[in-house]
Amino acid sequence: MNMKNQALWHPVTQMKELEEHPLLNIRSGKGIYIYDDDGKSYIDAISSWWTNIFGHANPRITKALCTQAAKLEHVMFAGVTHEPAEELAARLVAMTPNELSRVFFAGDGASAVEVAMKMSYGYRQNTGQPEKTKFVGLSDGYHGDTLGALSICGHDFFSDMYRSIMPENISVTGPDCYRCPYGKTRETCSAECFEHMEKTLEERGHEITAVFVEPLAQGAGGWRFYSPIYLKKLRECTLKHDVHLCFDEIAVGFGRLGTMFAMDKAGVTPDFVTLSKSITSGTMALSVVMTTDAVYDSFYGDFGDMKAFMHSHTYTGNPLACAVANETLTIFEEENVLETNKPKYEHMRRCTHEKFAGHKNVGEIRSMGFITCIELVEDPATKKPFDWKKRTAFRIYQKALKRGALLRNLGDCIYFLPPYIITEDEITELVDIAYAATVEILGE
Ligand SMILES: Cc1ncc(COP(=O)(O)O)c(C=O)c1O
Repeated sequence: MNMKNQALWHPVTQMKELEEHPLLNIRSGKGIYIYDDDGKSYIDAISSWWTNIFGHANPRITKALCTQAAKLEHVMFAGVTHEPAEELAARLVAMTPNELSRVFFAGDGASAVEVAMKMSYGYRQNTGQPEKTKFVGLSDGYHGDTLGALSICGHDFFSDMYRSIMPENISVTGPDCYRCPYGKTRETCSAECFEHMEKTLEERGHEITAVFVEPLAQGAGGWRFYSPIYLKKLRECTLKHDVHLCFDEIAVGFGRLGTMFAMDKAGVTPDFVTLSKSITSGTMALSVVMTTDAVYDSFYGDFGDMKAFMHSHTYTGNPLACAVANETLTIFEEENVLETNKPKYEHMRRCTHEKFAGHKNVGEIRSMGFITCIELVEDPATKKPFDWKKRTAFRIYQKALKRGALLRNLGDCIYFLPPYIITEDEITELVDIAYAATVEILGE
């Protein structure tokens, strides 16, 4: 066993497996590559859990971090403010629809989701609607692993064991565009599947405070892309039933879908947006909840009213994290990132189709912006999945590692979500590695 420290317990890992599959020991990173102990390089094909948009050890980000560290590394954020946080809040408000006028900092993705849940719930308490206590999430949705966030996730795998200590919320069948039960294609879709949400909101809207969705793309569910029509219907229906709409953009915010935010692409403005991951270019943990004046005002009052939002995290609004987030936004502006990305992700999409489209186990190749995902199935004609216990894509991930790419599969999906600084040649190399690894496991 190649474990350096027997005390370490790794996340989402069956530790016993490490006896068979030793951990990769990463020593450094530069650009799109990470390097192990022996100096072997790996393309970081998923931007280190979808965060590292401008590459490892990016000189601009590193400089911003060091400059801030020399000035002020941390100060508590209650009773105190500081320039990096003030600047970041102002910039986020300027970049998003006018309605999203208030900014609250949290720590990581799941804590931002908890904050949005508590704000929505608190709004109801503070505005005389105490019966609206339930949250709705979609099947195959993912919002983090803390108990509140987990209660609106659609993955039994993560939540089953903890069901009795989680808040009881509502799961609604969401879009499943690859296996559309209505027999529609992406081209002919009118979000017929919205009927499930519509029914839930009609019947239970009086007890629901908010609906949480990952807009346009369910990430952890296997990059399941769905139509903006669904979100337009959802906005209309949530307004009708006085239910908050929260877009969890933790995975896709900051250019991943081609626009700065998914809400821009969908043309829908929610009541809450949660952001994290790429906001600091993969350098520091930081998350943000943006919301409306209406929500903010409901907590506003005299000290004795007991309406204040009583929530904090020790590192809320950390100056280092805010400084690198500001630098991230400056890079977007100065390097015209959204435009520069276009030909690259078009190349990624084309290249993946050229390589994978004819393979006997490819069910669907789907792309949106700088994400391309390949869903592997036992039989593309019937869309029959592999027996999950065979861990087909996991084995491909392992083969790809040997060939120099860190792919980390989601179920039987392999996908490319590389740093935006990747070049077209490097994309071609990455797709070639993934294909060779696929052939090693599944044959031609
Ligand atoms: C959409 C979405 N929400 C929330 C989270 C949770 O974020 P964190 O892992 O930082 O808690 C994730 C993480 O992958 C995510 O993809």
